[in-house]
Amino acid sequence: MQKVLFVKSSLSGDAGQSSQLLAHFDAQLPASIERTVIDVVADAKPHLTMTEMGAWMTDAAQRTAAQTATEALSSDAIAAVQAADLVVIGVPMYNFAVPSQLKAWFDRLARAGITFKYTAQGPVGLLADKPIIFVLTRGGLYQGTPLDSQTPYLQAFFNFIGLRNQHFVFAEGLNMGPEAAEKAKTQAKTELEQLARRFLI
Ligand SMILES: Cc1cc2nc3c(=O)[nH]c(=O)nc-3n(C[C@H](O)[C@H](O)[C@H](O)COP(=O)(O)O)c2cc1C
Repeated sequence: MQKVLFVKSSLSGDAGQSSQLLAHFDAQLPASIERTVIDVVADAKPHLTMTEMGAWMTDAAQRTAAQTATEALSSDAIAAVQAADLVVIGVPMYNFAVPSQLKAWFDRLARAGITFKYTAQGPVGLLADKPIIFVLTRGGLYQGTPLDSQTPYLQAFFNFIGLRNQHFVFAEGLNMGPEAAEKAKTQAKTELEQLARRFLI
């Protein structure tokens, strides 16, 4: 493992619980590890549009300057994932979903012919598989219940583009009193330390 991609998506920036857990994971890594950080809130992009997808579908040599710039939103996101040996994504729960800025970033990772293709047997993910860690922070308790709308979505989406080596770390009950919050964060930190040892040390 040489390169780790961190993706942050808390509305609270570095003060967010998910960002702090990502920082805890970062603190476990040797100095030699190359880190790339994308903060999809601080560097928020617009929602995906058909105009942008039109740029994807235009031959690179034929693109206007505007299309080249808009296409780069997607190819830069994909390149960041391709370059990483390990991807770590902070996923707060906001209104039973992932942050819309994170969804907008995911939307730019799904590119027919680049990250997935359809075959007679169904869709095939084209990204080279690598470990991906999701750090999920929530005010309430949903893990393993039908109200956990995030986990099946993340599993399905990343399987679809070829990243099947998925690991989920939950910090739940963060708004259920200081004791519950502390317990959840301690547990999540322990799991992150174990994952750091497993993948990087
Ligand atoms: C706009 C907003 C919506 C939220 N919606 C939910 C929710 O649907 N379920 C839940 O358990 N917690 C919800 N919360 C609480 C967050 O999940 C919790 O504060 C968590 O720490 C967010 O991660 P972060 O600190 O990394 O931003 C919400 C918080 C905000 C700000």
